[in-house]
Amino acid sequence: MRAVICDRLGDPSVLRIEERPIPRAGAGEVVVRVGAAAVNFPDVLMVAGGYQHKPALPFVPGLEGAGTIHEVGADVSDWRVGDRAIFGAKPGAFAEYVAVPARALTRAPAGWSHSEAAAFRVAAQTAYHALVHRAALKRREVLLVHGATGGVGLAAVQLGKHLGAQVIATGSDDAKLAVVKEQGADLTVNLREADFVAVSKGMTDGRGADVIYDPVGGEVLEKSVRAAAYGARLLVVGFTSGGPSKLMSNHILIKGLAVLGVRAGESTIRQSRTFADDYARDLPALAAQGVMRPHISHRFPLERVADALLALRDRKVVGKAVIEME
Ligand SMILES: NC(=O)c1ccc[n+]([C@@H]2O[C@H](COP(=O)([O-])OP(=O)(O)OC[C@H]3O[C@@H](n4cnc5c(N)ncnc54)[C@H](OP(=O)(O)O)[C@@H]3O)[C@@H](O)[C@H]2O)c1
Repeated sequence: MRAVICDRLGDPSVLRIEERPIPRAGAGEVVVRVGAAAVNFPDVLMVAGGYQHKPALPFVPGLEGAGTIHEVGADVSDWRVGDRAIFGAKPGAFAEYVAVPARALTRAPAGWSHSEAAAFRVAAQTAYHALVHRAALKRREVLLVHGATGGVGLAAVQLGKHLGAQVIATGSDDAKLAVVKEQGADLTVNLREADFVAVSKGMTDGRGADVIYDPVGGEVLEKSVRAAAYGARLLVVGFTSGGPSKLMSNHILIKGLAVLGVRAGESTIRQSRTFADDYARDLPALAAQGVMRPHISHRFPLERVADALLALRDRKVVGKAVIEME
């Protein structure tokens, strides 16, 4: 089988394709024949050596994908060869076959392509963990979503609308923001042209947003304090702008803010088991209802994996980019 190999750290051009034996399923594992894998911002960071999880070299990148079950290991009773599944990898998804623990699998939604199924898990779980578990978003609250043109941002727009919030979405490109509007945002703000603080205040009679979801960081998070209502919840999701922010503790105090870190992947490992139960119950239902369906703007064959990561890094993607094996 073909697999993408990262054997030195750097920009995506360091990646190359290698022939490897198809992995075998160990006890508690399945081997998936990968139909598609989705690209996430952490893939770019991991290949550059700048992500919190640093796999030993060489490694196969890719955090999520979907395909059909090729082999079932001992002690796995819920899956059969030929079943369609979504999988999480830690990493390893950018290959034609991958061995994963059976607990890392969920059923692929009926009627979805491998690419749609591949692009669902990370974004949906991040938005769900942030808005449901961390912020407990309520109907009629105002939700400000930054990075709304990206994977985890667009998922938050879809889920926020479903939960009954009024959604203000920010991004830096009108064409990309038109897609975010189609996906349900009440208002979109192009950061290059308009002031999201003024828009948030204008929409709320000067009160500000109740919940702010921020995968961008940097100045965007610092400025968000001014767009926040008294008592707002500020969700720290990521740092696509390049680095963490300096939040002033006096501003946090004066506005009575709750600053909430979001670690969706970690939430099933370190925190209550009920989080995993919630994902298992609610995410397939949200997919089946069509509430959270990935928008895919870019598709690449496996041999163009570097172009896929570069498209994401260079802010060309709206929603998700996928690598299609079939
Ligand atoms: N906390 C968690 O559990 C969790 C889970 C998954 C991902 N993440 C993190 O969430 C972030 C987003 O991941 P993703 O996969 O959704 O990435 P993505 O698809 O590339 O989206 C990133 C978004 O950030 C915006 N952006 C990029 N650079 C920017 C800049 N300099 N200033 C302002 N906006 C900028 C882009 O919008 P425009 O181009 O329109 O500005 C884009 O929509 C990453 O930091 C990732 O590590 C966190």
